[in-house]
Formats: sequence, structure tokens, C-alpha cells
Amino acid sequence: MFSQFLLIALSIGLGSTSTCNFSNGGVRANWKIVNRSLQIHYTNARISNNQWTAIGFGPGMQNLNVIVFLVQNGRVQVRTGKTNGYRAPTFDNRSSVNVHSSNISGTTLNVLITVPLNFNGMNLLNCQTWNFVQTGQLMNGQLSRHTTTPFRVNNVCASQCR
Ligand SMILES: *[C@@H]1O[C@H](CO)[C@@H](O)[C@H](O)[C@H]1NC(C)=O
Ligand SMILES: *[C@@H]1O[C@H](CO)[C@@H](O)[C@H](O)[C@H]1NC(C)=O
Ligand SMILES: *[C@@H]1O[C@H](CO)[C@@H](O)[C@H](O)[C@H]1NC(C)=O
Ligand SMILES: *[C@@H]1O[C@H](CO)[C@@H](O)[C@H](O)[C@H]1NC(C)=O
Repeated sequence: MFSQFLLIALSIGLGSTSTCNFSNGGVRANWKIVNRSLQIHYTNARISNNQWTAIGFGPGMQNLNVIVFLVQNGRVQVRTGKTNGYRAPTFDNRSSVNVHSSNISGTTLNVLITVPLNFNGMNLLNCQTWNFVQTGQLMNGQLSRHTTTPFRVNNVCASQCR
């Protein structure tokens, strides 16, 4: 009985190589669970003024919960929202994301945020697909579509990132 339990525990432990960071195309992120929140450190080394970049949670544009980082007039703004198709997300009136620090220096954006584990009805502890959008333009403050295919990371299990 006990050895059986050990075996199962072991195989779960070995089988789950949790993804807790990402790096590609100038985008770097790492994340962990801190204080019942998801802490994300996000950097983008190839962003310019009047551009946006984002992280989207979910399988596809039909239904993503998004965190969008907007760079305007040398300032960084963090907004949250949802997509329901291949168009700009609908922003939440109030963002539930806590911005601990953010700055833009040259072409490098650097942000430290915490996100509630229940993020717009989505449990961020569940294993799911994370999408990293490199950049898109801001036109009069509105998001224009991203020109590159977002990087997709399947089966991120944030609960295993400590
Ligand atoms: C990213 O995570 C892997 C393990 O999944 C680890 O080996 C590597 O050191 C991490 N890289 C950074 C920059 O944290
Ligand atoms: C976690 O929460 C406690 C109590 O609110 C606080 O003192 C501590 O600084 C927090 N830790 C982090 C890493 O945010
Ligand atoms: C968000 O704000 C808009 C415009 O002020 C308002 O019409 C809408 O009802 C608000 N939505 C929520 C969920 O509060
Ligand atoms: C920029 O923000 C990062 C975290 O997002 C922080 O670690 C760093 O100290 C900040 N740099 C400056 C110059 O404020």
C-alpha cells in the first residue's frame, strides 16, 4: 500500500516538469505562486513607444483572459480584459492586477505584477496554455493587431511554480 503510494507520488513528481519561465524574441517572463497570487516578472526588450505587448491565458482568441502592457509617452500601463474572437480584447473597467513596479528604459519594458488566482473567472492554478504576444501598435491609444504569431506555451501549471 505504502510503496504503491510512494510510486505514484514519485511518478507524479518526475512526470511534471513544470514550465515556470519563458524566453523568446525579446520576451522574457518568469512566474511563481506567492501569497495566494500569481507573481509574474515580465520583460520585453524589443518594444517602442506607442506599442503594446501581452500575455493571454487560454487556448485561442475566442476566449482569452489577457494582461496587456501599453507603452505610451514613455509610460507603462497595465490593463486586463477578454477576447472573444480575432479582434482587440474588451478591457475590464478595473484591473485586478497589482503592479508592483514597471518601467521602460530605451526599448526594454520591465514589469513586476501579481494577479489574483481567480482571474476573471479563470483559475490560474489550472494547467493551461499561455500565449505571449511580442508587440502590436497603439493607434490613438487603441490596440492594433499584433503582426507576429504569438508564442504559445502549452500546459503551464503555475501551481507547481514556487
Ligand atoms: C527556466 O526554467 C528552467 C526549468 O524549467 C530552469 O532550468 C532555468 O534555469 C530557468 N531559467 C531562468 C532564466 O529562470
Ligand atoms: C505576503 O503577504 C504578507 C502579509 O500580507 C506580507 O508581509 C509579505 O510581504 C508578502 N510577501 C510577498 C513576497 O509579497
Ligand atoms: C464599464 O464602464 C462602461 C462605461 O463607463 C459601462 O457602460 C459598463 O457598464 C461598465 N462595465 C462594468 C462591468 O462595470
Ligand atoms: C524596473 O522594474 C523592475 C521590475 O519590474 C525592477 O526590478 C527594477 O528595479 C526597475 N528598474 C528601475 C530603474 O526602476
